[in-house]
Amino acid sequence: MSTPADTAWQRLEELGTISDSPEHLVRTFLSPANLAAARTVIGWMDGIGMHCDHAADGTVRGILDGADPEAPPLLLGSHLDTVINAGKYDGALGIVTAIAALETLRREEITLPFPVHVLGFSDEEGVRFHATYLGSRGIAGTLDGTAMEITDVSGKSLCHAIDSEGWHEGASTILYQPGKVRGYVEVHIEQGRVLEEAGEALCAVSAIAGQTRVMARMSGRADHAGTTPMPLRRDALAGAAECIVAIESIARSSDPLVATVGRIEVLPGASNSVPSSAAFTIDIRHPEDAARVSAVAEIQNTCAAVASHRGLVFEWNIVQETDAVPCDPVLTESLCKATGNPRLLASGAGHDGVAVSAIAPIAMIFVRCRGGLSHHPDEFASQEDVAASVDALVRFLKTLATSDHA
Ligand code: HGY
Ligand code: MN
Ligand code: MN
Repeated sequence: MSTPADTAWQRLEELGTISDSPEHLVRTFLSPANLAAARTVIGWMDGIGMHCDHAADGTVRGILDGADPEAPPLLLGSHLDTVINAGKYDGALGIVTAIAALETLRREEITLPFPVHVLGFSDEEGVRFHATYLGSRGIAGTLDGTAMEITDVSGKSLCHAIDSEGWHEGASTILYQPGKVRGYVEVHIEQGRVLEEAGEALCAVSAIAGQTRVMARMSGRADHAGTTPMPLRRDALAGAAECIVAIESIARSSDPLVATVGRIEVLPGASNSVPSSAAFTIDIRHPEDAARVSAVAEIQNTCAAVASHRGLVFEWNIVQETDAVPCDPVLTESLCKATGNPRLLASGAGHDGVAVSAIAPIAMIFVRCRGGLSHHPDEFASQEDVAASVDALVRFLKTLATSDHA
């Protein structure tokens, strides 16, 4: 009989085949593949006797009752969505390992004193709306009116997307109040090289870095590529390119600041027309919030200066800004014991715990991943390390249960 960890490994492979593209792995907010993945996860949770429900945005939940069904639940899980041309571990790992840990307890006929809720969040990456943590902000009740008006590249608002594309049939409102949740624990690949270099499989996480996500636009004037002398041009793409190189240079000179321009849309998009518009995303991160905020200001000023000397119009829109979030020291100490590793790593990557921290103490387990590669199809965690993370989660749950009785 295969172990729950074996099943988790197989399920990673299965989720890795549920994609909106035949060429690569991609699942985005409310996309057909994301909703198919959501239904698949519900099937797995239903299969181990969990009561399941889903929100209209595609976030799914499985509830495993504890001895005291009224006790504040422990939340586990991660995100269902992926980046474009993704690996199959980022997000999925936290969902399949949570289910495997509960299946392990079920086989050992262990009932925890508190309920455990496993959540599969609809959108953490923010690929469609550039705003991130949409699923976890949904369950934390922090998706405010402004967030609901954020638009995707087609101009569709988040609110309209949920109304028109949401999974409304049988949908529930999944919402948690501060102080009513025992905690949130997420298993996630490290997306870095420290564990691999140290020869360690797992460790707990100290904090999740803050991030600022900006939508910037340079606007100039479309012109004929053949008849417009260079000095007369107001080339939006050339302006954006000067900004992009300057952004990289600012980040390179301010380690551990990182800044990334990951997407750019150019209009009119004809090879023989001088670009009139260049809209580009900027992702800015730093472990210290104050340093990130000052880097954001420096980048904004630099782009504005480029626009000014090129006669361009510059728009700067902070789509989302989240401060660094510390992990709960008590839960984290327990995770250190459960992983058998005293090491703590700060996460440069964002995670749903940032949003869930609005309603609960959070903690994370990092799992070694090959070469630290992530947001890439060659992203990989070994079956042994996946199994080790399930075992660590089981140890953590058992410890939490006994501490409940203490
Ligand atoms: O972008 C991130 O840090 C995460 O992968 N969403
Ligand atoms: Mn992730
Ligand atoms: Mn990611």
